[in-house]
Amino acid sequence: MADNSPLMMTIAVLGGTGKEGSGLAMRWALKGYRVIIGSRDAERAAVFADTFNRQIGAEYMIGLSNDEAAQQAQIVVLSVPYSAHRATLEGVKPHLSGKILVDVTVPLQPPAVRTVHIPAGHSAAQEAQTILGDEVRVVSAFQNVSAEKLKDPDAPVNCDVLVCGDDADAKQETIKLVEAAGLRGFDAGPLANAAAAEALTPVLLYINKTYRVKGAGIRITNID
Ligand SMILES: NC(=O)c1ccc[n+]([C@@H]2O[C@H](COP(=O)([O-])OP(=O)(O)OC[C@H]3O[C@@H](n4cnc5c(N)ncnc54)[C@H](OP(=O)(O)O)[C@@H]3O)[C@@H](O)[C@H]2O)c1
Repeated sequence: MADNSPLMMTIAVLGGTGKEGSGLAMRWALKGYRVIIGSRDAERAAVFADTFNRQIGAEYMIGLSNDEAAQQAQIVVLSVPYSAHRATLEGVKPHLSGKILVDVTVPLQPPAVRTVHIPAGHSAAQEAQTILGDEVRVVSAFQNVSAEKLKDPDAPVNCDVLVCGDDADAKQETIKLVEAAGLRGFDAGPLANAAAAEALTPVLLYINKTYRVKGAGIRITNID
């Protein structure tokens, strides 16, 4: 198992300029991980990282193109809209061999984002594994965590994280990242189970609208 102590680990967040990825990136940076914000536009990523560093008063992040970010990181987190999922993965695939790819993507189908959409490959995470091949250990996580709740990195998040994947070590490393972000992570089975985690998100979006709340989440009960 790789050394997952914060100072030894570089995490790239592809789509890290966005709502979900930026919240996770800030939390990891504040826990001492070296975080690279990835973007289609390296300048946009650099501006995001600089702004965050200035607010905090330290050099916690850098911003690069998605390609360079994937190249330099040990763990790569993908947080882009589903419409950009395949193209982003195909773009960075040459840099992912031997690494863990944590897929946050939910296969929403706008405008019907409150209705479950099962993609052709059963889940976005399984599609990622098919695109990337066996050289990459794909883990799915964070699909049910609202960006709204992540954006203040000091605020507690009232949501658990289902972590699915076919490699036990990769899941344990991802659970450490979940905990570093301030949440509880649970081994929720093989990558095939990612379909369930992904499908919960449109249900939560429906609940948000119906009950006029921001960021309904999930809890696993009866586990201390
Ligand atoms: N928002 C939430 O509360 C939430 C919660 C759980 C899971 N998720 C899932 O997490 C993923 C990211 O969500 P988000 O809300 O952070 O999305 P977002 O803010 O709309 O987009 C994230 C980033 O993806 C990149 N991107 C956008 N369109 C793209 C395209 N056509 N091609 C390539 N890159 C593109 C952009 O980065 P650059 O322009 O810098 O490249 C953008 O900043 C989605 O799959 C979403 O379903 C979101």
